[in-house]
Amino acid sequence: MKMTPPMGWNSWNTFGRDINEQLILDMARKISETGLQSAGYNYIVIDDCWSLKQRDKNGRLQPDPEKFPNGMKAVADALHEMGFKFGMYGCAGTLTCDGYPGSFDHEYVDAATFAEWGVDFLKYDYCFHSNLIHGRYLYRRMGLALKNCGRDILFSACTWGNDETAKWIRETGANMWRSTPDVFDTWESVKKIIDAQSDILPYGGAGCFNDMDMMVVGMRGKGNVGLEGLNDDQYLLHFSVWALLGSPLFIGCDLREIDDATLNILKNKEVIAINQDADCRQVMELHPLWAPQIKAYARYLENGDIAVGFFNLSEKEQLLRYEFEELGVQESTGKTLMLHDVWSGEEFRLENCSVWRNMKPYETLLFRCRVIDK
Ligand code: GLA
Repeated sequence: MKMTPPMGWNSWNTFGRDINEQLILDMARKISETGLQSAGYNYIVIDDCWSLKQRDKNGRLQPDPEKFPNGMKAVADALHEMGFKFGMYGCAGTLTCDGYPGSFDHEYVDAATFAEWGVDFLKYDYCFHSNLIHGRYLYRRMGLALKNCGRDILFSACTWGNDETAKWIRETGANMWRSTPDVFDTWESVKKIIDAQSDILPYGGAGCFNDMDMMVVGMRGKGNVGLEGLNDDQYLLHFSVWALLGSPLFIGCDLREIDDATLNILKNKEVIAINQDADCRQVMELHPLWAPQIKAYARYLENGDIAVGFFNLSEKEQLLRYEFEELGVQESTGKTLMLHDVWSGEEFRLENCSVWRNMKPYETLLFRCRVIDK
């Protein structure tokens, strides 16, 4: 079982319904060529709209032969050959969100089919589900089916946080769960998703992560969920928050058009290392003085360091004033911190246990902090 947040690329944000074998394999090649694969993005996930509208005579799901002429096993084989893991999409209801057959009452046959095709990851959506059966039972069904299908398949629940998902999803065998409604490539959408995390931070942890949705970093307003687009500071902030909060990191942009600014964001090794920290500790929300527009979080890391992030979500400059005592760092203990800014590389020693700084609109400050003698 994967214990740290899964990383990869998913077809939905950019391509929506317009998917096919060629495109998926092209994306995989791009992930590899751009160095994203070696940075850790190793799941390639095909989202909704890959199948025919009917099951075959044995009740099995069948790929659309126009989109996937060689079947799904061929896609899986090609991706495995390139060193990737292969993700597919299904739904707990009678239909998927876009109207293709769902897995309700077909959980075992579908899990067996996915296993036969060589699938390593299943995103499992929540549209058209029975109103009489609570979600926990629908996800238990598929969770158990996957556990017994003879293949290790990561279970990615997509309930948008509905029906208090946080309280029951871990029991179903899920490895990640969508905490919020669908993301769009707008600042408002990204901000809304960030705001929605505060109450559910305690629920994310090793083996089952709060999924903030596929990232819009680098979409620049294009594609299926592309609307206004974000600026580079906003994309960098978005990526940093997803990483620090331990969300799965799925790229959603068109990799054929990926630019250097986007690659620099998505490939930052130190930010990825914080996301992938083996301890997967609960994230703390911090409250800098006088600046409600600055979101701040921290997470203890496996080697004794602390990751601390400050994010100016507003379009105005803000004064950051933060006292580190609440993180367990007190002058009286004879210890202080060395702060390393993972974006600028700047290093400095914490003075008087506090940081005072002006933060520009949408600025990110993400530090890896080392405990040192005062
Ligand atoms: C839902 C999910 C999205 C995507 C679409 C596909 O809206 O939340 O992430 O999978 O369905 O139809």
